[in-house]
Formats: sequence, structure tokens, C-alpha cells
Amino acid sequence: MKAIQYRDYGSSAVLEQVEVPAPLIQNGNEVLVQVKAAAVNPIDIKIRMGFMKTIRPVEMPFIPGGEAAGLVTAVGKDVTKFKVGDEVIVLAKANGYAEYVKADENFVLLKPEGLSFAEAASIGVNIGTAQSVLFIAGKLKKGQSVLIQGGAGAAGGAMVQMAKAAGAYVIATASGKGVELAQSLGADEVIDYKLQEVTEVVKDVDLVADTAGGEAQAKLFQALKPGGTLLSIVVPPSQELAGQYQVKASFVASTISAQTLAQGIELLKAGKFRPIVSKTFKLAEAADAQDFLTAGGINGKVILLID
Ligand SMILES: NC(=O)c1ccc[n+]([C@@H]2O[C@H](COP(=O)([O-])OP(=O)(O)OC[C@H]3O[C@@H](n4cnc5c(N)ncnc54)[C@H](OP(=O)(O)O)[C@@H]3O)[C@@H](O)[C@H]2O)c1
Repeated sequence: MKAIQYRDYGSSAVLEQVEVPAPLIQNGNEVLVQVKAAAVNPIDIKIRMGFMKTIRPVEMPFIPGGEAAGLVTAVGKDVTKFKVGDEVIVLAKANGYAEYVKADENFVLLKPEGLSFAEAASIGVNIGTAQSVLFIAGKLKKGQSVLIQGGAGAAGGAMVQMAKAAGAYVIATASGKGVELAQSLGADEVIDYKLQEVTEVVKDVDLVADTAGGEAQAKLFQALKPGGTLLSIVVPPSQELAGQYQVKASFVASTISAQTLAQGIELLKAGKFRPIVSKTFKLAEAADAQDFLTAGGINGKVILLID
């Protein structure tokens, strides 16, 4: 099968298209899927650059890609939820940039009707991340307020939609055309962070969800009410600032499984959540796709399409 792999950490130039044997079902609970679309996520780039070497080392040669969508072509003897021909979403740890990927059935779910394969490949990490931040770690409740940093980004856009659907008051930061997108996703207020200082206008929120990190994250402590919570999916927030502002602050590593996606999928089926695909590339263009994501200013997900 065709796959994109690399043998060394480095720039996108290390990505090469190769012919490798397709994976085979080895355990009873595995599902083999012919990939039609694979998402390009920031983590794929962080791993490729070697930034995750200590916490997530990979074995070379390595095929990136943690989420995909396609057709089931084989199932292990213990698989009960899927059959050959089903259209599914796959949440794999790797190997998604390829014509075939296999996964444990607990990390496979049926593709919701009406979604293209590109849209289906775009929602797993976003919904799982939003669920983990807003509801598992953040315990967000109806009537509470949440500030979402990067509300027009891939993860942030899912957070805006899911927080709104839960009855929260949603404030998002975005820039340029992302302002309109965050509004269309249901944000009650959107602040263009390039034109206005967010902390001048946002005060006393219950929860801050940060998808940008760095300096932009540190400022957001000022937007919380005492006793509030700042959660980041990018870098661990400063405990010193948390103490100073009398708030809780932590990093969230998302739990992404068929189970954590359930609530978001229900919203999608009810028309309260929409996938946002920013741009599609061919499998052979994986390096361009990763560079496009690295350049930033993207609203939605970058997807590789596989014929
Ligand atoms: N911990 C986890 O489990 C987990 C899960 C998923 C993702 N992540 C991480 O979360 C980050 C975001 O992922 P993503 O897929 O959502 O990426 P993305 O689509 O590129 O979104 C990033 C967002 O951050 C915004 N942003 C960048 N700089 C900013 C600043 N200075 N102030 C305010 N907003 C700013 C961008 O807005 P502009 O449009 O203005 O550039 C964009 O909307 C990545 O680092 C990714 O690795 C972590």
C-alpha cells in the first residue's frame, strides 16, 4: 500500500511516500480500514520535529496520522460492533497517512450519516479534546461562562459549539476571518485578539480554555473569577500565576475514544455541531499539508484525501 513515512525527525522534507505492506489483523478485537481521508493534526508536526521525543518516542520508520475515516475491509474474530463495508472513523495512535490502518474496535466508530469522509476524519480529535477540556476536566455547567482562546481553530471551534450546546455563555478569541466563523459557531462574543486586548473586555469567567499557549495563555489568568479554572491543551500553565490569581490551572491531555466522542456525535446528529474542513490535499502532498498547518491562520481542519 501507499503510505507517508519518515526515518528521521526533521522538517517536512523528511516525509516520503513509500510502498509498504498493508497491516494485517493480529488480534481478535482489531478492525482493518481502507482509509479515504486522514486528518493532519498539530501533534503530527510536533512528533515529526522531535519535540515529543521524551514523552512520545516513535519507532522509525514512522507513519504519522492519528485520525482517519474509511471503509472496514476486515475484522478480528472478537469484533462485534463492525462488519466489512461499514463506513467508520478511526482514532489510531499513528499510521493514518496510509491506504490502510488498523485499530482496536474501541477506537473505531460508525461514520455519522451525511458526513463526507473528509468531514468524518476531521471530528474525532476535536470533539474528544473539547469533551475532555470542557466537561471532564472543566466540569462546565449550563449558565457558566467560558473563554475559549482560539475559538476559530480546529479544537477551539469544537469547544465553542459544544460549550454553546451545553448552555454556557461563550466568549471566543479569533483573528481576521476567524471572527465570523466563531460567531457562526455560536459564540456569544468574539474578540479579535489582534485588534483588542482580551483582558480589557473579559472579566470574571468561570473557565478559560486555551488552545494557543505561550504569552497569550499567561494573560488569560486576569479574565478568570477567583476560584475559576484555566485549562490548556498546549502547555502546562504557570502555577505561580494560578496562586497569584487564586484560580486552578492545569494542562489537559485529551482522552480520545469512541466513548468520549459520544456526546459530540449526538450533537452532530441533532444538527448542533458541524465539522469544519479548511483545506484538503492528496496523500502525496502530505508535506505541503503539514507546512500549510504550520503556517497558521487556518480555520478548521487540514485533511489528506486518499483515492
Ligand atoms: N492536549 C491535547 O490533548 C491536545 C489535543 C488537540 C490539540 N492540541 C494542541 O492544541 C493546539 C491547537 O490545536 P488545533 O488543532 O486547534 O490548531 P489550530 O487549528 O491551528 O488552532 C490554533 C488556534 O490558536 C489561535 N492562536 C494562535 N496564536 C494565538 C494568540 N497569540 N492568541 C490567541 N489565539 C491564538 C489560532 O488563531 P489564528 O486563526 O488567529 O491563527 C487558532 O485559532 C496545538 O498545539 C495542538 O497540538 C492538544
